[in-house]
Amino acid sequence: MARFIDELKRTHSCGELREAHIGEEVVLFGWVQSYRDHGGCIFIDLRDRDGLTQIVFDPKEDFPIADRARSEWCLGIRGTVRGRGQKDDGTSLENPRLATGAIEVLGAEIHVFNEAKTPPFQIQDDVETGEDKRLEHRYLDLRRPLLQRNLRLRSKLNQETRSYFHDNGFLEVETPFLVKYTPGGARNFLVPARLYPASFYALAESPQLYKQLLMVAGFDRYFQLVRCFRDEDLRIDRQPEFTQIDVEMSFINQEDLFEMLEGLVFRLWKEVLGVDLRERYTDGRFPRLPFDESMRRFGNDKPDMRFGLEHVDLTELVVEHGGGGVPLLEPLAKKFQDGTYRMELPDEIVKAMVVPAEHGLSRKQTDELEKHAKQMGSKGLARAKVAADGTWTQSPFAKVITEELRLAINAACGAKEGDLILMQFGPEARVHTVMANLRLRLGKQLGMIPETGTEGDWNLLWVVDPPLFEKNDDGSFAAAHHVFTRPHDEDVDKLGTDPGMVKCYRYDLVLNGFEIAGGSIRLHDPAVQKKVFEVIGLSEEEGRDKFGFLLDALSYGAPPHGGIAFGMDRVAMLAAQTESIRDVIAFPKTQRANDLMTGAPGRVDAKQLAELGVAVTDDG
Ligand code: AMO
Repeated sequence: MARFIDELKRTHSCGELREAHIGEEVVLFGWVQSYRDHGGCIFIDLRDRDGLTQIVFDPKEDFPIADRARSEWCLGIRGTVRGRGQKDDGTSLENPRLATGAIEVLGAEIHVFNEAKTPPFQIQDDVETGEDKRLEHRYLDLRRPLLQRNLRLRSKLNQETRSYFHDNGFLEVETPFLVKYTPGGARNFLVPARLYPASFYALAESPQLYKQLLMVAGFDRYFQLVRCFRDEDLRIDRQPEFTQIDVEMSFINQEDLFEMLEGLVFRLWKEVLGVDLRERYTDGRFPRLPFDESMRRFGNDKPDMRFGLEHVDLTELVVEHGGGGVPLLEPLAKKFQDGTYRMELPDEIVKAMVVPAEHGLSRKQTDELEKHAKQMGSKGLARAKVAADGTWTQSPFAKVITEELRLAINAACGAKEGDLILMQFGPEARVHTVMANLRLRLGKQLGMIPETGTEGDWNLLWVVDPPLFEKNDDGSFAAAHHVFTRPHDEDVDKLGTDPGMVKCYRYDLVLNGFEIAGGSIRLHDPAVQKKVFEVIGLSEEEGRDKFGFLLDALSYGAPPHGGIAFGMDRVAMLAAQTESIRDVIAFPKTQRANDLMTGAPGRVDAKQLAELGVAVTDDG
């Protein structure tokens, strides 16, 4: 029988011992963070998920094993806790940067559970090794205190979430991952069905339809911490498999749902981060921002409102002034004047943003911004430096623009001497994308956004009342989100006459510029549903084919219901104040959606494919 583990049980973790333990005999298990030989004595810093403890073996002839131990060996140690003492000059040997820095353990016995090969990188937070290498050896990367802390925080978020929903009468119900493929929405991963050759399951992109069925089934309040799968292009806040806190409630309106979810955020921040958000949101509610206003002021529907640099819409002014002598703006103005475009639903717009004089952007910096705008598909970035008398310099428009339009633009932008006006015009979506990106880029560049990792400035808001439909390039309409989103009652009449103006009960929760949750109140009225299908050109048969089971279910006394899903990975990323979603996922995929440790995705042999009735065309 082995002495360590069987007889000598762990008494403490490596982060636990303090002055109060001095004199106690302890047994610790962990990994060698570092070892030092100080003239006869061997010092080992032993690490586990809780922290580090300094062990000293004295003298080394008595502990030949300790003398051999190297980085990342897995050890058991028995010893006695003692104070760190003083140097010869009387200064304390305590290490105030370490939680256990007041003590050390004088080793009496040591056992090697396992030696370790030399690790490919040092296990420490300020590691310089590239992420690819670390992901390849993720089990070692995960030994780093930062990742241990992040996953612990995430575990707590999960725990608090579950208890919050249980406290509020929700049931956690699991829903299938292997589901029927339906077109639309995010691209699905497909799974061949062996028993039905040439047929495929889809991996669920979310439990959306099932949670609605659970409402029809009378479960009333549902939640689930659930894995979702989407075959999308990845970004810093996206993974192909990610976790949602998925929620659906019956007999509620948008306000009821907001209140429930605000309660969750208050609780998570309080219990997990120790931050009382109620001090900031004293009425217990998060602010709301209408979607249209968000687009107008920030160019996107997830504005980071921790800084200014708001956009100014100049479309009306430019139209009013017939383009103001600027050849590039005249065609746009004309299209509004001859009725091709409507001001409330414009196809092309003109927007500006002012960089205040005190930031003194150089020409080179502005050129770089223009380069960036071009990379996003823009033709350029018009600019104008405002002089004391309101004239413009450094501007391609300076010579041609009428004084009236120039002064009107200065006034609309509130631009003063030395300010730089940046302008974009063209198709609405592109102008918004470019301007929203420039705003964020400038915000960071000019130091207006707190750095990640600094004490959090938690800026939460609901973006509400977006349009139900978006326009396709050919002028037809598509559902902007989910076809079962409920339009505002007062807009139902417009479904037949002016669908572009129909607003709906769809909402996103935004934290510091990240969309952390999104959902809607669902449409459960078959008559209105039929009209929505008509707008998007979906015939009754097509509707049946796509959503048959949901339509059927909704016809059996469906309760009014609505829901939301939080992106748990994003919540954890922001709560952990880290910049990458991969830092809060134990085994993430890379930006190219592969797993560098296991080599997934991989090829399979011909026999397996034959069994599935699948043929591959490219041997790569
Ligand atoms: P939605 O598609 O808006 O809504 O997703 C909800 C939230 O999930 C997070 N999220 C992601 N996180 C990481 N990686 C991804 N690839 C990813 N995609 C989405 C975001 C987002 O706000 N069924 C609806 C919810 C509902 O209507 O109730 C849904 O899935 O934080």
